[in-house]
Amino acid sequence: MPNAIIHHCPSLKLARERKETITDYSSIKISSFLSKYAKGKKYYIYTHGCQANYRDSEIFKGILEEVGFKPSIDIDHANIILINTCAVRENAENKVLGEIGNLKRLKNKKDITIIIAGCMAMEEVMVNELIKTFHHVDIILGTHDIAKLPDLLEEHLKKDKRVIEVNSGSGYIHERLPSVRDSIFKAFVNIAYGCDKFCTYCIVPYTRGRERSRDPKDIIKECKDLVKQGYLEITLLGQNVDSYGKDLKKKYSFAKLLDEVAKLKIPRISFLTSHPYDFSLEIIDVMKKHKNIQPYLHLPLQSGDDKILKLMGRKYDSKKYLSIIKYAKRVMPNLSISTDIIVGFPNEKDSQFKNTLKLVKAVKYDSAFTFIYSPRSGTPAAKMKDNISYQTKVQRFKKLNEILKQQMSENNKKLLNHAFSVLVDGVSKTDKTMLTGRLPNNKIVNFKGNKNLIGKIVKVKINEEHIYFLMGSLEK
Ligand code: 5AD
Ligand code: SF4
Repeated sequence: MPNAIIHHCPSLKLARERKETITDYSSIKISSFLSKYAKGKKYYIYTHGCQANYRDSEIFKGILEEVGFKPSIDIDHANIILINTCAVRENAENKVLGEIGNLKRLKNKKDITIIIAGCMAMEEVMVNELIKTFHHVDIILGTHDIAKLPDLLEEHLKKDKRVIEVNSGSGYIHERLPSVRDSIFKAFVNIAYGCDKFCTYCIVPYTRGRERSRDPKDIIKECKDLVKQGYLEITLLGQNVDSYGKDLKKKYSFAKLLDEVAKLKIPRISFLTSHPYDFSLEIIDVMKKHKNIQPYLHLPLQSGDDKILKLMGRKYDSKKYLSIIKYAKRVMPNLSISTDIIVGFPNEKDSQFKNTLKLVKAVKYDSAFTFIYSPRSGTPAAKMKDNISYQTKVQRFKKLNEILKQQMSENNKKLLNHAFSVLVDGVSKTDKTMLTGRLPNNKIVNFKGNKNLIGKIVKVKINEEHIYFLMGSLEK
């Protein structure tokens, strides 16, 4: 590949290795060459996947704006196009590949720089494919290499070559990267990066690296600054928030961190994602203690069958999962619970799928993200025989969702005629005459109201229940 500068390519083997965590407090430096180049130029970012990617995109925006680029409202007027990708399932990847393919048309028309970042850039197979077949991609940037974006861009522009910089398995945490947040009232705050769980189906520990907890002082400072700026809601983010602090020199627990953040008096605090293996019941006690912690818990189940859970490497059984739910519901009767479930994992028998349904019926979830198993190259499960027919997977998926929908509707009925505080997010996407916002338990409600309520907390009475949202009216 004579036309490419390959600094590093991903290695799944290296990604598994644990490195010492090093916190970097230095700021990025922008050369005069790059600031001059950016004058009058615009950027556009596509973001796929989870909240961690959305937060990373805010940092990409911060870096690009520090260089001097301005945001473009549409892709056609952008000079820099960055796609922040997701690798968690094959269909997500196919969508991104289609998007990258479409950019060729634009590149043929004008001189643009196309950057591929995020989790797909961390996969060996994918990077090889991108290098081989997508010649219009200019920069491939790994999740550990975000801070290098200005240098790589400069290298690409000066040498007119493609640049590939993907380091696997870094122990770095960058504390001083600039960011431009998407919202002026809701913020994501990373508490830890990466994941140490290595569930057998999951690519995330390879794409995001081993778990690195941020220093609690840095997290609290970021939250305090957000409060000062008038933010109303903070969501603490980690692939597995419950193991927060286990890798720190001075051990620190998530329950303690949550307690400390809640004391800052931010009106709304929530957190994502929990793992039943590391979950401590103390977290529920802290939630109960602070009114500003939202009564909402996302606790991925993945499967309700103990043998499948073992094959998935989840490290808990259905009994342990249910014991957490039982305690949580006893202490917080109004707690809303959501989950992630995978159907059609290799060897999943019909009776085992029924165990998932049994558990789902016992919990009565308020919402759920359901997935058909998708083999990810390099993970242990991808080596297992994917022996469930697609038709069976789809049937199970439909059956599971039927039950979930019934439960959600039953749960929603209990909210009718009650009034709740709602943080107004904006205008409803489906009906421009309505506002939309979220209840403390994370449910969506649409209601009529003036646009100047966006970004405020108001009281809304629930009048109608639908499966995925509620309808309400403003209370005076
Ligand atoms: N196939 C299907 N679903 C997956 N998830 C993670 N990896 C896979 C996979 N290979 C789901 C899990 C996880 C959520 C973010 O995505 O349910 O909790
Ligand atoms: Fe993936 Fe499991 Fe880590 Fe969640 S806990 S990110 S499913 S490896």
